[in-house]
Amino acid sequence: MKKITIAIDGHSSCGKSTMAKDLAREIGYIYIDSGAMYRCCTLFCLQHGLIRMDGSVDEEALEPLMPQIRIEFRLNPATGRPDTYLNGENVERDIRTMEVSSHVSPVAAIPFVRTAMVALQQAMGRDGGIVMDGRDIGTAVFPNAELKIFVTASAQVRAQRRYDELKAKGEHVDFDEILYNLQERDRIDSTRAMNPLRKADDALVLDNSNLTIEQQKAWLLEQFRLKTAD
Ligand code: CDP
Repeated sequence: MKKITIAIDGHSSCGKSTMAKDLAREIGYIYIDSGAMYRCCTLFCLQHGLIRMDGSVDEEALEPLMPQIRIEFRLNPATGRPDTYLNGENVERDIRTMEVSSHVSPVAAIPFVRTAMVALQQAMGRDGGIVMDGRDIGTAVFPNAELKIFVTASAQVRAQRRYDELKAKGEHVDFDEILYNLQERDRIDSTRAMNPLRKADDALVLDNSNLTIEQQKAWLLEQFRLKTAD
């Protein structure tokens, strides 16, 4: 059977990556977390002092350094899921901190950053058989993807999920800070000039505010079966 391309886009912290990872594992596809790539670029900026006190990014200094950002995904045999590597170092944990979350949207809005990441994403998905999640996958990275999903949930529900996730990892977190961060990211992601977050015209919408992980998994698998049955 021909392997298709599956694009999952949506708002911050709405559980896209959990759905995308589970689906990929179930159907034997490769999962690619495009948000992790923008998070790596942000971590690189923090490591190199390219984020100013006011939160703005030193784009002039970053642009010539872009070729030094090497991002890879390697399967972690213990979890069965891919871990993110930046320049040979496992940064899976470092890229998910509040510090990175609070700077990632301005970094991801920079056109030369997007051009580089989109090219990498398109190369990774060249042969199909992938599930990629992000903000612009169905609109800009793979506009011809056979299955496109746009996920959302209420901001309160999303903030609660992210709070629980960071708490479980032992991070010291504040609910209001998380809620503010995800609303700010949604605002910046939706209003940037290049490839803003928006639903592709042919995407199916999933509001998972009141769904369990099992229910959304079953829904997604059903959509995949319907697409690949024709
Ligand atoms: O996990 P969460 O939904 O909170 O975020 P993420 O998927 O890890 O993405 C982090 C940030 O990267 C987003 O807020 C966007 O600013 C940016 N991003 C993007 O611009 N385009 C993508 N395809 C994926 C992420």
